Amino acid sequence: MRKIDIFDTTLRDGEQSAGVNLNTAEKLEIAKQLDRFGVDIMEAGFPAASPGDLDAVRQIASTIQNASVTGLARSVKSDIDAAWEALKIAECPRLHVFIATSPVHMTYKLKQTPDQVVQTAVESIKYAKQFFPIVQFSAEDAFRSDREFLAHIVEEAIKAGASVINLPDTVGYATPKEYGAMFKYMKDNVPNIDRVKLSCHCHNDLGMAVANSLAAIENGADQVEGTINGLGERAGNAALEEVGVALHIRKDAYHVETNLTLNEIKRTSQLVSQLSGMMIQANKAVVGKNAFAHESGIHQDGVLKEPTTYEIITPELIGEESNQLVLGKHSGRHAFSDRAKSMGFDLDKESLNQAFKEFKQLADRKKEITAEDLWTILTQQQLKD
Ligand code: KIV
Ligand code: ZN
Repeated sequence: MRKIDIFDTTLRDGEQSAGVNLNTAEKLEIAKQLDRFGVDIMEAGFPAASPGDLDAVRQIASTIQNASVTGLARSVKSDIDAAWEALKIAECPRLHVFIATSPVHMTYKLKQTPDQVVQTAVESIKYAKQFFPIVQFSAEDAFRSDREFLAHIVEEAIKAGASVINLPDTVGYATPKEYGAMFKYMKDNVPNIDRVKLSCHCHNDLGMAVANSLAAIENGADQVEGTINGLGERAGNAALEEVGVALHIRKDAYHVETNLTLNEIKRTSQLVSQLSGMMIQANKAVVGKNAFAHESGIHQDGVLKEPTTYEIITPELIGEESNQLVLGKHSGRHAFSDRAKSMGFDLDKESLNQAFKEFKQLADRKKEITAEDLWTILTQQQLKD
């Protein structure tokens, strides 16, 4: 099976989330957990951004054992020098250098012509290659770039020595079909494209970052970039835990494998949420509080009879203890009696029916039925017996 490299950028693009600021100790803790999770590459920061970022990248590069550590640099010598300062300690130093290639970015942000952008990219890759054995080149805003121009700059980047080419959807504008087609276009039109790894990097502005990443993989991407919990600029990046689980659960559809240790997902997600201060929405796929919670009677009854009726992912797969049958107004007798038993109550049929009736009346008035509520109802019923 084709192996997909997992490139985690929680500590760089993820830290670019508004309101998130991680200190070096926090970054190190996350980096160690990412290593346990099994990511292949981790982008530890943007060394030219600040002395603190440079130091964090250096410390991570000297600590992490398994993953390859990288840092971001614009296509300018001073950024590449800062990245080298931070990463030279690494066993196999890897640089991530980028320049924007879309008309709007080249005209208004860079104020460079397309030819100048190609020249800047080539010079920076050649400069970086003097130090770094592995150079990844990213064409920022690749998705909104002219396809012929993109193919041209990618060809020149490969000639200059880049061994990984990343084609980001920087503003989360692509649909899965279109994003996949861009990868196919590069495969079909760039000479020597098979000598490099193609990487996808998706933002979630239209909620399609994960779907777009999967479409890129279907169309030849060998590396997928993202963050834990989908942290990142604006609406975030592709959530790596979702990508990893989707590739695993739908192996039949994607036919690829990763090095991820999926049962480290829950721990990694919790750690990132805690240290970044970014709460995880309850209904978030894979790691949300409700991802394995069943509330309605029909679902609870089904899951109690056979979990796969309503669960396509086992909680254990991602390191979650168990599923949860939440008792609320939609819950049924089966789940209620199951919970009563697990709380140590052995009521006869009639008492159980009476307790269930009281529970339903309370559930109509109260949004969430707590364990204390159940204790009260069941104990009172037991005392009546
Ligand atoms: O979204 C983006 O284009 C980026 C690049 C720097 C790779 O984060
Ligand atoms: Zn990004």
